[in-house]
Amino acid sequence: EERLDGQELSVIALVDGRTITVLDPCQDHKQVGEGDVGANTGGMGAYCPTPLADEELLRSVSRDVLVPTVDALRRDGITFRGVLYAGLMLTPSGPKVLEFNTRFGDPETQPLMARLQGDLVDILWRTAAGTLDGADIGFAPRVACAVVVFACGYPGAVTNGLPIDCLAKAQASAAQGEEVVIFHAGTRRSDDGQVVTHGGRVITVVGLAADLAAAQGGANRAAACIRFPGAFFRKDIGHRVMRDRVSG
Ligand code: GLY
Repeated sequence: EERLDGQELSVIALVDGRTITVLDPCQDHKQVGEGDVGANTGGMGAYCPTPLADEELLRSVSRDVLVPTVDALRRDGITFRGVLYAGLMLTPSGPKVLEFNTRFGDPETQPLMARLQGDLVDILWRTAAGTLDGADIGFAPRVACAVVVFACGYPGAVTNGLPIDCLAKAQASAAQGEEVVIFHAGTRRSDDGQVVTHGGRVITVVGLAADLAAAQGGANRAAACIRFPGAFFRKDIGHRVMRDRVSG
């Protein structure tokens, strides 16, 4: 196999059999350690939109990756309706496909949904019904940064049932003009009504702000509020483009 160097980009599109609507591009960080080191995971955090993909790049991904894929499926007798997720590496010789998923990305979907303007049910209904061209899909002109809070041991074995405290404090931690959205993933309610851990990827907090640095700061502040024994998260989601901007 060819080794591909570059930055990863997640392009998630809705396909109704004919119309392909590309949603705002995201970047996730898959390695467990800050600075992108250590074991690969399902995703430690993601932000949206990413400046890595301008309109021209998204047009080329649509033309060279998504359209040929949907056409090839049609030639095989499959009318594809649903979510098409292309995981890409932005190499010096252009975007290369790493993987396809026929689902929303995790955690890319959390920052994407936090910015979505429009009725998600109507959008998905139209995707299924073949009427996506009439959908009203927009995204708030803010940056969303999602930070996943993990249970100790992830991506290996974890202990379930640990009480989670300070969710309200995390929600209330947003600075003036910013917003925090909390998504539950590996949680459940115990018999006495307490929210407890139930899995390795416990909670995702999304910070929404005018730029990536502020969104990351808001998400980190909120993530730091969430308390259970052994909780950890990466504080540097989005660092690659922030570093490139500072040095570039
Ligand atoms: N974040 C990668 C995936 O959802 O597959």
